[in-house]
Amino acid sequence: MERKLKRTLLLVSSLLCWAATGAQAAEVKFPADWAKWTSVSTPLTQIGALPDCKADVKSLPPIYQKTVETYCGVRAGGPGKVAVLVNPAALKSFAARDGKMPDGVNMVLHLKDMKVLFVTAHEGSVPSYAVFTEDGKNVTARSGPLSAQTCASCHTGFQAYCKIGQCGTRK
Ligand code: HEC
Repeated sequence: MERKLKRTLLLVSSLLCWAATGAQAAEVKFPADWAKWTSVSTPLTQIGALPDCKADVKSLPPIYQKTVETYCGVRAGGPGKVAVLVNPAALKSFAARDGKMPDGVNMVLHLKDMKVLFVTAHEGSVPSYAVFTEDGKNVTARSGPLSAQTCASCHTGFQAYCKIGQCGTRK
């Protein structure tokens, strides 16, 4: 009897384990040719930089306020200059915001002063997120502002602004 219970528990826990792994987003590959992607103009690139925590951002839409709140402290003086780069294969979908992103690594938010890339990939229209240095070291954190969980909470959480993980609009 006890053995049976043990076996059942083992089965349940391995099933839970499997479910947890299955739910995890696909691993994001480093886009080696990111620097050749198309640099697009968006509301954020028109502002040009992410400010420090003293900036008054009350006039911005809530998602931009939350972005500043999340990242203003990651570097003294704020994250600084930004660019948005889009994989040429994804450019049409990016401009249309049609939710038809191709499979693969599609978008980069380049934090130029930090020399860091925020990267979004898709698989079956499901976005996943990672952070890399410019030369390809994966520096995604387990928790905090540089964790994939934080990216997803905002990019998925602000339904009104983001379409399958794309928050910016081409201007
Ligand atoms: C609190 C909200 C928030 C968090 C957290 C956040 N982002 Fe974003 N992200 C934005 C907004 C807003 C934009 C669009 C800015 C624009 O271009 O006007 C954006 C833009 C981007 C872009 C450019 C493509 C697009 O979606 O427009 C990428 C790539 C990106 N983020 C990846 C990430 C990654 C990776 C993380 C986590 C390390 C992350 N983001 C965390 C709000 C957020």
